[in-house]
Amino acid sequence: MDDTFTGRVAIIGLGYIGLPTAVALATRGIEVIGVDINENTVKAVSEGHVPFVEPDLAIAVSGAVSVGRLTATTEVPEADAFIIAVPTPFQDDHTADLSYIEAAVAQVAPKLRGGELVVLESTSPPGTTEQVSKWLAGHRPDLTFPHESEGLPDVYVAHCPERVLPGRIMIEIVTNDRVIGGVTRRCAEKAASLYRVFTQGAILTTDAASAEMAKLVENAYRDVNIAFANELSLIGERLKLDTWEIIRLANHHPRVNILTPGPGVGGHCIAVDPWFIVGAAPDLARLVRTAREVNDSKPLHVARQVIERASRFRNPTVVCLGLTFKANVDDMRESPAVDVVVAIADAEPDLDIRVVEPFTHALPPELDGRPNVRMQSASDAIDEADIVVLLVDHEQFKTIPKTRLEGRVVFDTRGAWR
Ligand SMILES: NC(=O)c1ccc[n+]([C@@H]2O[C@H](COP(=O)([O-])OP(=O)(O)OC[C@H]3O[C@@H](n4cnc5c(N)ncnc54)[C@H](O)[C@@H]3O)[C@@H](O)[C@H]2O)c1
Repeated sequence: MDDTFTGRVAIIGLGYIGLPTAVALATRGIEVIGVDINENTVKAVSEGHVPFVEPDLAIAVSGAVSVGRLTATTEVPEADAFIIAVPTPFQDDHTADLSYIEAAVAQVAPKLRGGELVVLESTSPPGTTEQVSKWLAGHRPDLTFPHESEGLPDVYVAHCPERVLPGRIMIEIVTNDRVIGGVTRRCAEKAASLYRVFTQGAILTTDAASAEMAKLVENAYRDVNIAFANELSLIGERLKLDTWEIIRLANHHPRVNILTPGPGVGGHCIAVDPWFIVGAAPDLARLVRTAREVNDSKPLHVARQVIERASRFRNPTVVCLGLTFKANVDDMRESPAVDVVVAIADAEPDLDIRVVEPFTHALPPELDGRPNVRMQSASDAIDEADIVVLLVDHEQFKTIPKTRLEGRVVFDTRGAWR
């Protein structure tokens, strides 16, 4: 099989993953058409702008658009390769919502002529890539698909999960090793030829279900380890011990590396993906489920601690620093910081809550319109604060001098001011 991909690539979904992937390909000379159902996103990208904050992405997008290598549209075009990077949230019962993938597949199917590659980048439960092949076959009975036979299919289908770190996406999208799972071996090789265009890391080919599971396992590993740190912080509190100090001491052991506790776990990956493992084997994934439960219970615990501190004041002003799911990004998906503020505001509707979030201008929908919650600059909010709660360790907050916090009750959920 030819080792070098040539041709045109359509990327379905221009979010945190799809847009950087589009740019990575475009800057290496590939013609890329970005597709999104969100017209504002398409308009922004067409004008060379980025609809969210990610370091170095804006300049790369404007460069790729200005030389004509990257265009954006709401309609899936004909292409030689299609990369699907749409959301995979979970439903109320924690099973994966594959409806975005199914909708993207339905848009791609009519554009197939034979010979194309379809890659699923969205994080998915084991079996989803094969399901994509089956969905495509349902739409196109005139073509052969790889789940039907090991032979040469008309269309190649593979999974290439993404493991970039928000805030470092533009570096890691190029340097990370990539796992590529094909519905057949030929599919994996075909997809590898595409990712070799921009990947400097190793390309590891396998079958589709193993690639899907490897991605989920990576995030479950992180979740379980964070849950351990969070559980230690709860135990430390009960025993009136300084958990940060205990972790610091324990980590001097040459084979111990305990992570840091915090107000919970958020984001579109670690807080979501382990549930897909639980869904795949509910009776066996006991540790994975418990880790999710430990981490998910942390925001309410933090909220209760804030309320307890507030009860010592008459009409206190509580300042919550940070809303995003982690430091130095604008992403608030599944953010434990948002959950903490919501829980406080729900429990104490008369409490004066100020929120500081340098990465956004507006409150998220869960908080917007609440009379007792408003956004402020860090400086104004701290001036008026009785209690300061650090929820996100943004660089801007870490550098607040200790003297600025004097006279306030300080509750540092991240250990950033230690
Ligand atoms: N953000 C991360 O750091 C990260 C890391 C690894 C994996 N992932 C996975 O990558 C996938 C995408 O995540 P994301 O963070 O880029 O999501 P996102 O929400 O930032 O972007 C998804 C985009 O897809 C668009 N979209 C939805 N349905 C569509 C359709 N039918 N056709 C065209 N566009 C459509 C949305 O409008 C949105 O712009 C998810 O499965 C996620 O779990 C994300």
